[in-house]
Amino acid sequence: MAETSNAQADIGVIGGSGFYSFLDDVTEITVKTPYGSPSDSIFVGEVADRRVAFLPRHGRRHHLPPHRINYRANLWALRSLGVRQVLGPCAVGGLRPEYGPGTLLVPDQLVDRTKSRVQTFFDGEPLPDGRVPNVVHLTFADPYCPAGRKAALAAARGRDWEPVDGGTMVVIEGPRFSTRAESRWHAEQGWAVVGMTGHPEAVLARELELCYTSIALVTDLDAGTEAGEAVSHGEVMRVFGENIGRLREVLFDTIRELPDGRGRDCLCTMAHDGWNLGIDLP
Ligand code: ADE
Repeated sequence: MAETSNAQADIGVIGGSGFYSFLDDVTEITVKTPYGSPSDSIFVGEVADRRVAFLPRHGRRHHLPPHRINYRANLWALRSLGVRQVLGPCAVGGLRPEYGPGTLLVPDQLVDRTKSRVQTFFDGEPLPDGRVPNVVHLTFADPYCPAGRKAALAAARGRDWEPVDGGTMVVIEGPRFSTRAESRWHAEQGWAVVGMTGHPEAVLARELELCYTSIALVTDLDAGTEAGEAVSHGEVMRVFGENIGRLREVLFDTIRELPDGRGRDCLCTMAHDGWNLGIDLP
């Protein structure tokens, strides 16, 4: 039964393809935002005494393709519940032969190759309350939270799942997969993995002063890599399904490892020092 109360959480998990539920004992909350509705209800529960809010990125019926996800509403909704740290597990294709299916990679860089997505809260449009936000040029050289990355890497190692520490995730518009030529070009740039949802999620999180950590599960070798077959959606879902159990454990352990509170030493919050956003964050 969906509630409309203001249950609080301090950690958010946005589940990717094949990831539609996370916690066992949850309160389901419907959240409305000035930017519209998030992908689904938000499911709030507890992990190791931390309040956690889970949101299935594509909706629980997987009805939202990557370019139709309301990323602004998703991040705003989590923040309005009190969330300050977000974990973003996602399915990706590997761009190097050694990053085959089942590889877990915690990226440290991002390349945006999307085309149609709103990537800021500060686009000069008035808010529903009539105020116009200030122009903001975000510091985004390091898109991911160092504390969150450290926690995720430690959690994976603790489960004997040696993660790849760092690498660039290129985010394509989708919903189609890359051609072989596009994929080869991505690999030649030295980029590590390719996905469809990592942008604008990370940048919108930063705009809301949320620590954001991407945790990328490789489900396939992308078409342009040596040995890469043409990628199929069925294969992506199958490999994600095979790994979901241990990914869930790694996320639980990451939550246990995350520093308590707001992580004042994070880049994510320092990036805002001295800003006047012109809006009140929820
Ligand atoms: N998600 C999972 N595999 C992918 C791939 N090869 N390209 C883009 N997004 C993906």
